[in-house]
Amino acid sequence: MLGNFTYCNPTKLYFGKDALEGLSEELPKYGKNVLLVYGGGSIKKNGIYEKVIEILKANSKNIYEDAGVMPNPTSDKLAEGVTRAKEANADLILAVGGGSVCDYAKAVSVSVNCNDDPWEKYFIRFEEPSCEIIPVGCVLTMVGTGSEMNGGSVITNRVQKLKIGHVFGEEVFPKFSILNPEFTFTLPKYQMISGIYDIMSHILEQYFSGTDDNTSDYISEGLLRSLIHSTEKALENPSDYEARSNIMWTATWALNTLVAKGKTTDWMVHMLGQSVGAHTDATHGMTLSAVSLPYYRYILPYGLKKFARYAVNVWGVKYEGKTDRQIAEEGLSVMENWMKKTGLVMNITELGATETMLDGMVKSTLIMDGGYKVLSEADVRNILKASY
Ligand code: NZQ
Ligand code: ZN
Repeated sequence: MLGNFTYCNPTKLYFGKDALEGLSEELPKYGKNVLLVYGGGSIKKNGIYEKVIEILKANSKNIYEDAGVMPNPTSDKLAEGVTRAKEANADLILAVGGGSVCDYAKAVSVSVNCNDDPWEKYFIRFEEPSCEIIPVGCVLTMVGTGSEMNGGSVITNRVQKLKIGHVFGEEVFPKFSILNPEFTFTLPKYQMISGIYDIMSHILEQYFSGTDDNTSDYISEGLLRSLIHSTEKALENPSDYEARSNIMWTATWALNTLVAKGKTTDWMVHMLGQSVGAHTDATHGMTLSAVSLPYYRYILPYGLKKFARYAVNVWGVKYEGKTDRQIAEEGLSVMENWMKKTGLVMNITELGATETMLDGMVKSTLIMDGGYKVLSEADVRNILKASY
């Protein structure tokens, strides 16, 4: 573990079939006014809404609602949420849903008392909040983003065609999150596997950086092997509690800042995917799966040793006298077959990307410098072209 870092994760987790009981423990810590934030209605169909309302009432809370948070929440919706939270004089924002709802709740929490335009301040200028922040709690219903235990908040500006994430500090992390794996059973298969690939991508974004011997890499390999194993089980039987609970826990640890420690971290798959998302509004995990292999094949020569290690330790490829290059390429082929078998989207055309969007997508791609190669604009273009 070279370098210096601090580690603190202030989010309290309640995990398991009885996790929702934790809500009753948490609610007394906050004032009367609760802004209940949720998405397009899945929580009403699967009964989670009623359960949450019952607990809020039992705790004598004034309940205000902000519904209709869309996947890939927008800056326009954020403005609406700020108005709702002000009207409610919210003491707590309770997000019930997936990453979009949790991310949105965090964005509202730092924007209610902000005198500036939140999009400009947090997502364009990347400034930190200087105002009072409303506490956020989450009841998670979709697994993948890790938003339940991190400071990430990703907002899309449809006019500017930008989808940008701000990774806020500890003061914006959810105060608590409730993780009941059974709440994820009603997810359609498309969303389940999209979330699974999001988890895989989060781990890989951190793993594919640096050349030192680092404990984080060993943890990442373990998380990846657990994820691959449980995915197979969950595909066979989506109600397999053991598999779904392992996937849920892996998602949280994939992006709660632990495995990033001591790593420069890459994040270019996410930058490419978010650019595709900004132009197509496609499902997050699928934008990542569609660009991953073109990206990894492009940078493989620059991180050869790590790609070879990945092939052996995660995908079980055997050396048997092969070169690092052969091993590394074989690892990516095994990964590709697994992705196809899992049902992931393997190209951006399927997500609605057209040739005419290419220039815009190149422009919307932020370039990060923590991975094995710092891409030029021409590299970004080549990778996106190979993703069609
Ligand atoms: O809106 P409802 O009706 O609730 O339906 C949702 C939505 O359509 C549905 N859903 C959620 N739970 C369900 C369910 N349907 C049936 N049963 C359930 N139990 O699933 C759909 C997708 O939900 P969404 O919240 O959009 O998915 P996800 O959790 O993948 O979140 C995606 C957003 O998170 C951002 C992404 O960019 C995207 O905007 N990310 C956030 C990160 C973070 N905070 O650190 C990091 C990630 O890399 C990611 O960028
Ligand atoms: Zn992601």
